[in-house]
Order: sequence, then C-alpha cells, then structure tokens
Amino acid sequence: MAAPQTPLQSTGLDSRLRDAGLFLRQAFRTFRATGAVAPSSRALGHALARFVDEREDPGAPLSIMEGGAGTGAVSRVIVEHMRKGDTLDLVESNPEFAGHLAELLATDPELSAAADSATVHQALVTDLGPDRSYDVIVSGLPFANFTAEEVREILEYYFSVLRPGGHLSLFGYLYTKQVKAVIAPREDYLRQARSSWVVEEWVNRYGIGTERVMANIPPAWIHHLRKPAAD
Ligand SMILES: C[S@@+](CC[C@H](N)C(=O)[O-])C[C@H]1O[C@@H](n2cnc3c(N)ncnc32)[C@H](O)[C@@H]1O
Repeated sequence: MAAPQTPLQSTGLDSRLRDAGLFLRQAFRTFRATGAVAPSSRALGHALARFVDEREDPGAPLSIMEGGAGTGAVSRVIVEHMRKGDTLDLVESNPEFAGHLAELLATDPELSAAADSATVHQALVTDLGPDRSYDVIVSGLPFANFTAEEVREILEYYFSVLRPGGHLSLFGYLYTKQVKAVIAPREDYLRQARSSWVVEEWVNRYGIGTERVMANIPPAWIHHLRKPAAD
C-alpha cells in the first residue's frame, strides 16, 4: 500500500500540475519560443546541472545562468546542486513564465531555498548585456525552432559572458530532424538543418561530452561545452 501523502508531497504535485498546465498553454500560444509541450524531467535537469555539481574548485562559489527557465523545472534541480555563495540568474523571455518564476522563488518549497541568491530576468538572453560573467550556463532555449543566425548570436553571447574554463550545457530533442524530414515543409526542415549545423560547429570546437536522456518527453540529447582556459 502506498504511504499516505504528506501536505508537502501534495503541494509538490499540485505545483507540478500547475506548471505543466501553464507550460502547455504557452506552447499553444507561442510554440516557436516555447519549443516543447511539457517542462523538462528531473533526469534531464540533473544531467544539465552536471557542472553545478562537478566543480574544479569546490571552495569557490559559482555564478550560474539558466537561459530559458520556463516554469522552473531545471531551475529546481540547479538549486538542489547549488552551494553557499553561488548565484543564479534565471533568464526567461516569456512574461507569463518570468512572473511565475518570481512567484515560485517566493513560495515554492524547493525554489525558495535560493530566494536570496537567484534573480529572475524577464529578457532575451542576448539582451542581458556584456557586463556579466558566468562559470556555468545551462541553456534550455529551443534552438531547433530558431534560424542559424539566431543560434549563432546566442552561442556567441554565451561564450562572451562565460569565464575561461567555464561550462555551457545545452539540450535539444532526439529525432526531431528525422521527423521533420517526413512531415514538415521543406523550408522548415532546411532551417532546422542549418541551425543544427551551427550547434555542431560549436560542439566540434568546444564539446567535452554528449549525453542522451531517454527519461524525458520527448527524449533529449545534451551537449556539454567548455570555454578554453585561455581563449
Ligand atoms: C524548451 S523551453 C525550456 C523550459 C525549461 N528550461 C524546461 O526545461 O522545462 C524553452 C524556454 O526558453 C524561453 N525562451 C525562448 N527564447 C528565449 C530567449 N531568446 N531568451 C530567453 N528565453 C527564451 C521560452 O519562453 C521557454 O520558456
């Protein structure tokens, strides 16, 4: 028999359902920017938060950015891996999601643990400006929906604000190109192919590891990139 649910467990489930509802509504409203129909799984979050966990200098606090934080599914896991002194910038262009994240930081049992060290920015990542510096960037942006020029601009921005030796972890969904080859208009298939070549170019230059996470809807790939210590 299942153990009786504590109030905290039921609050957790309620808030996950609320997040999933909000995510789906925004996906219908603006699929190009949202890029998925459901928030990421915890398994994907843990894989993306790898370099918040694995630190070169365990004594030095990390400056972390999550680009495209959505309803905070990955942010929650990042917060779990954060240590005293770390800071987190949650960047989200959709005002509904950004407002929701600000509310979660104040009220959510998991995210409020980082209330004093996390900041929500309702902005495009590329509008954050050059006066920033991060040790770890976790990107949830739906590159498959962007043009090659947009992907290049974002990757250049990430690397301009990443400290030498810092890490960028980004993800996308498996098999989308193959599915699009069959069902999407030719221009859309070609646009996605071109934007994926830009990602590949960066992975070839800076990639240090690739993972597949099947426990996600849909299953995902992750690339981990490292900015060279002396660029
Ligand atoms: C695939 S969802 C990922 C959401 C969340 N990280 C997760 O894994 O569940 C992509 C998110 O990126 C946001 N987004 C898209 N383009 C953006 C941009 N240029 N700058 C900031 N956020 C952006 C969308 O509004 C959406 O919330």
